[in-house]
Amino acid sequence: MTTGHLTRQTMGVCYYPEHWPEDRWVTDAEMMVAAGISHVRIGEFAWSLMEPEPGQYDWGWLDRSFEVLSNHGLKIVLGTPTATPPKWLVDQMPDMLPVGKDGNVRGFGSRRHYCFSHLGYRAECARITTALAERYGNHPALSEWQTDNEYGCHDTTYSYSQSALVGFRKWLEDRYGTIDALNNAWGNVFWSLIYRSFEEIELPVGAVTQTSPAHQLDFRRYSSDQVVAFNKVQSDIIRAHSPGRGISHNFMGKYTDFDHYAVSQDLDIATWDAYPLGFLEREIGDEEKLKRYMGVGDPDFDAFHHDLYRACGQVRNGQDNGRWWIMEQQPPGPLNWGTFNPEPAPGAGRLWVWEAFAAGAEVVCYFRWRQPSNAQEQMHEGLLLPNGEPNAGYHLCGQIAKELDAIQAAPSAGRADVALVFDYESQWMLDAQKPAQDVSHLDTVLRTYSALRRSGVSVDIIPPTAAAAAGRKAVFLPMLMEVTSDFVDALDASGAVIVAGPWSGAKNNNHAIVEGLPPGALRKLIDIQIRRIETRRPFAPFPLTDGGNFAGWRDHLIVGDGVEIVETQTDGLPAVLQSGKLLYLAGRGDDVAQDRFVRHALTLAGVDWFDLPDDIRIRDNGALRYIFNYGKSTVDMTQVFEESDLAMGSLVLDSCDVACVRIT
Ligand code: GAL
Repeated sequence: MTTGHLTRQTMGVCYYPEHWPEDRWVTDAEMMVAAGISHVRIGEFAWSLMEPEPGQYDWGWLDRSFEVLSNHGLKIVLGTPTATPPKWLVDQMPDMLPVGKDGNVRGFGSRRHYCFSHLGYRAECARITTALAERYGNHPALSEWQTDNEYGCHDTTYSYSQSALVGFRKWLEDRYGTIDALNNAWGNVFWSLIYRSFEEIELPVGAVTQTSPAHQLDFRRYSSDQVVAFNKVQSDIIRAHSPGRGISHNFMGKYTDFDHYAVSQDLDIATWDAYPLGFLEREIGDEEKLKRYMGVGDPDFDAFHHDLYRACGQVRNGQDNGRWWIMEQQPPGPLNWGTFNPEPAPGAGRLWVWEAFAAGAEVVCYFRWRQPSNAQEQMHEGLLLPNGEPNAGYHLCGQIAKELDAIQAAPSAGRADVALVFDYESQWMLDAQKPAQDVSHLDTVLRTYSALRRSGVSVDIIPPTAAAAAGRKAVFLPMLMEVTSDFVDALDASGAVIVAGPWSGAKNNNHAIVEGLPPGALRKLIDIQIRRIETRRPFAPFPLTDGGNFAGWRDHLIVGDGVEIVETQTDGLPAVLQSGKLLYLAGRGDDVAQDRFVRHALTLAGVDWFDLPDDIRIRDNGALRYIFNYGKSTVDMTQVFEESDLAMGSLVLDSCDVACVRIT
């Protein structure tokens, strides 16, 4: 059997058969089929049932679960159970537990209680993965795998354990070769931090005040590499024992502690877990936004992650063969983990799923099948109530499955005209040394992304590589900290409009200010030099002559020959500069300014954009254009699109409604 790309988009669900009596399983499977579900993820937390005693496997329940699901024609996504090592294993090797920043061991009693650097635990993961893969790897119903569950969740990428210390020293020695090279790279002459050997180096924690940003950056790089290596152990085993089955991992939202592009080198499918209301509640400290989008979530946050993880799904397979899924989708009901857990607005649950399909998802899996009646997640809604009766999510799932049948959309990857660079190292560099409390690479990228979405443009998120940037009309690089000379040459040769800044190209690979001053290698394309950056509190923005502000950040620069000043700040300093096809933004625009900058760049690049009503978003997918209303009022889009081309819905969009038109 081979799997590979699905030709039709479809629905899935996360299921825990082990939580319910076996005589219920057939009913569950029948109900799944009736709701149009095709894929069922199981197994990812069940290690203590798979191996109740060390070395004694009990596959009976899992065999029977495979049989029931398979008899109903359902496809199985099998999770490796390594996010929840059993108690006996932790007792056997207690030093596998992660250690927090405070030096305290993070103990058994919940989940993710392991340190990525612990090689003994990695060997145990290899053992259970091999056992699972040998038993189920060629089962006809098995279609995909999931490695572990949400790497890094509950703040677990970084561990300050003895294993991490040993591993870090070795990693540094491999990277630098000599201690002198490390001392130079880190700038250790500063504050007399010269080391005589790699054995003297500690983890960047517990010092009196800040450690060198280069030390912190390397610890982030090291920790990220451990996640990659941990995942690769499982991927390699699965690939060897289970040919033709796609290997996936479920990433998270707004999570940047490891390099997801790097982990994706060993994955066939990138997936992520989308909880729009949880993210809004948890991540956005903006009261206005919270009120406005309470029932539907941020109109751009999930969409950004769809695009980011689509890019991850393309790392191994190539641009046109990328695969990505939603592995866990919030059902149309409250969660258990938000600061507050509101009910989704009517229609929001459907909008979320279509936003993912519009972005090319193969499968959207709901989390979870049935709300549990006990334990940690008993207050998290599922498709079924705890008593087994259908809840709102069950009915919605059935409705969406029918809509999918009608629209017959294929998952798609493709290449958008507009690309936006998101780079994990830039995030780590800014985390390791923040010029202002509210600055992050991701935040700056998200602001740019939202402006592009407000202009109705479909975007690819890309890593900073020549291959990913090729064939675009416009490439945005907001706050891309290290811009290599090769990347600049590739961008230049591609003929795309390049939109850089603020502070793009400011750092070298050792987290030091670039030679010749920022914007570093970009100076090949624009003769400017940044001599100072200035950050301010939100109440003191930098006003722009054409309207809007730089929000809390601006670059002070000198301007050389052949550079046009496109916009200024009200105090006369340059705001937007242009040289040939490169635009440089000398600050972080608020929404008003950012919309103007983005539209200027799109016009220059010959990319069509829309002046959309507030809260309307558009997404093109091949021959289909999806239109979403994230607002509370009805919006009439009949002036913009032709009613005759409708593939789904109505162009008079109610609150949280979705429409789809065929584009020619
Ligand atoms: C995810 C996790 C699931 C479940 C879910 C609840 O982060 O992968 O196991 O806990 O959240 O929303």
